[in-house]
Amino acid sequence: MLTTTIDTQRLQLRPFQSDDLPRFWEIGPSNYEIARWLTGLTWPPIMMEAEAFVEQARLANAKTDSFPFAIDCNGQLIGGVEVQKPGDLKEFPELPTIGYWLSEAAHGQGYITEACVAALHWGFARAACDTFAARVFATNYPSQKVLKKLGFEPAGVCLRYSKPLQQDIENIIMHLPRDRFEALHGDAHVMMGAIL
Ligand SMILES: CC(C)(COP(=O)(O)OP(=O)(O)OC[C@H]1O[C@@H](n2cnc3c(N)ncnc32)[C@H](O)[C@@H]1OP(=O)(O)O)[C@@H](O)C(=O)NCCC(=O)NCCS
Repeated sequence: MLTTTIDTQRLQLRPFQSDDLPRFWEIGPSNYEIARWLTGLTWPPIMMEAEAFVEQARLANAKTDSFPFAIDCNGQLIGGVEVQKPGDLKEFPELPTIGYWLSEAAHGQGYITEACVAALHWGFARAACDTFAARVFATNYPSQKVLKKLGFEPAGVCLRYSKPLQQDIENIIMHLPRDRFEALHGDAHVMMGAIL
């Protein structure tokens, strides 16, 4: 059975639950400093969209769907990391992608790199693919640094409509070949082997 709970040194990645909604709403979609970097969130935020996200996340099939992990630290929700199935990037429709965010209070402690390493081990083990992709605003320097630490390299640029900013924004497309990721962070099947 494919696990959906992963323990890292300081964090736990786990499926979203219905009772995550109030805290998810508070630290995620209703904080403009988070929402402004994510293309799909409406601003001002809409509670029904947050409810729909948590409900869809809760029901996601880990084997086949895009899978949003909740990130917990000491039993408290601090963010999310989603392993997305191919199709999000029209420039590279065959590649799975990854997306992530952290509550502002949790920034600056390396949590997102730790969470993304675990999510990518899971994603590479699940998909048996050669490359993951990601898309990041050209001005999102913290996120670009995170992607570089994971092993991603620039592979192109694109324009994407940002719902919260209500305009097209220049994005950098980044690629992560499996061999580069595994050289930096360990073999996906070995890391996930005990719990897949
Ligand atoms: C992207 C995000 C998850 C990064 O989390 P974080 O906890 O700040 O990440 P880190 O602490 O590892 O910091 C990332 C790096 O950016 C650097 N950094 C922070 N602010 C910076 C800035 N304004 N300019 C340049 N570098 C900056 C940090 O020093 C760190 O570099 P280092 O690893 O060399 O020390 C977080 O900022 C976030 O949730 N942002 C909103 C949502 C988002 O952007 N999601 C990603 C969409 S692609």
